[in-house]
Amino acid sequence: MYSKNPLSRRNFLILAGAAGAGLAQGCSKSASKPESVRPVEYAGAAIELLERQHGVTRRALAVMSKIKDGINAQTDIQPETVRGAVEIVGSFMIDCHQLMEEKFVFPVFAASPNTSELIAVLRQQHAAAFRLIEILKPLSANFSPKDRENQRKTANMLHLLARMSQAHASWEDTALFPLLHSVVPATSYDRLSSDLQGAETEFLGQNGFDETLQTIARYENSLGIGNLASFTPQPEDLS
Ligand SMILES: [Fe+2]
Ligand SMILES: [Fe+2]
Repeated sequence: MYSKNPLSRRNFLILAGAAGAGLAQGCSKSASKPESVRPVEYAGAAIELLERQHGVTRRALAVMSKIKDGINAQTDIQPETVRGAVEIVGSFMIDCHQLMEEKFVFPVFAASPNTSELIAVLRQQHAAAFRLIEILKPLSANFSPKDRENQRKTANMLHLLARMSQAHASWEDTALFPLLHSVVPATSYDRLSSDLQGAETEFLGQNGFDETLQTIARYENSLGIGNLASFTPQPEDLS
């Protein structure tokens, strides 16, 4: 599902670069893009699309947190679940979502001094998330119930990534995305929305978003957090 076709990721980068540059220049309607990379369908507005990606990201991070808790409690965590969680966060959150933000969203705030400090922190955290995933890839590939040192490091890196990324997404949802309407003209906002939808489809594939959710749901189920009701406090918890 993720970057199965290297050409798909390459096209995504081309698309992201072209559209991001256009928006950073004020989304001139005269800016032309090759027809081959023009988004074919617009199914939602920019902020809703980004927040929906954050919803998927938060569910994947919840899987990471559950794995970390399981490791710390020395319960039986399947190695394939650890590898899968690292892969899906790396592919969806970093290679897709964060790349889209850096190419399409952050540049439109370039002329807005009020957000420069926030954008700088967000960029630093994108880089930190990338670094954490790079550390987690070999750890998860060699994850073993018998290797306590690997488990300790894996749990620590999962904790650092989940804690930062949960806060990161919350700040973007509340302190950055609501400002998009004030820095992007209405006509350019429609273009931004269309470009984001096109980039998501280009990277994930036509049904990639739903497939991503289904994959995360499998990990949720394997860890006992696949039912929303399981998060509701029970009466005995409240006494
Ligand atoms: Fe971000
Ligand atoms: Fe984000």
